[in-house]
Amino acid sequence: MERTLIIFKPDAVNRMLMGQILARFEAKGLRLAAMKLQQSPRTQVEKHYAVHHGKPFYESLVNFMTSGPVVLAVLEGPGAIGVVRKLLGATNGREAEPGTIRGDFGLDQQYNLVHASDGPDTARTEIELFFKPEEIVSYERAPDRWIVRK
Ligand code: CMP
Repeated sequence: MERTLIIFKPDAVNRMLMGQILARFEAKGLRLAAMKLQQSPRTQVEKHYAVHHGKPFYESLVNFMTSGPVVLAVLEGPGAIGVVRKLLGATNGREAEPGTIRGDFGLDQQYNLVHASDGPDTARTEIELFFKPEEIVSYERAPDRWIVRK
């Protein structure tokens, strides 16, 4: 079972779109393994986006991600990392296909609603950065046997 970290960014929280976005992840069959609201410390966001350090948008990105609360979540399911990225669509909402989350709800490159891990190694590091092991819950939902054939 693959796990991925997602962040509902301050634009998703302030635009009150989290419910609609989470509904798409749930409808797909993905399962929440953890979730919390927080005002992120700047140092944590800098660590999370360290790969973008030095890029022209870095400072503005860190300012944006610390400008208000975010909601962090771990989603799980077979191929969860790729599945979530497909549901999100292209980084820039203007380029994202209709039917994707960013394609339906966004018009911007930075204000793109949700961050999601881009591979298994990043998913592991990102989940560790934002969640303690005891905050991640393993469980089965009754309909799971109708979502993925065993
Ligand atoms: P995310 O998937 O969280 O990863 C890095 C973030 O940087 C990205 O989503 C956007 O919010 C932002 N981003 C990427 N490219 C640009 C850009 N060219 N200008 C501004 N922000 C960007």
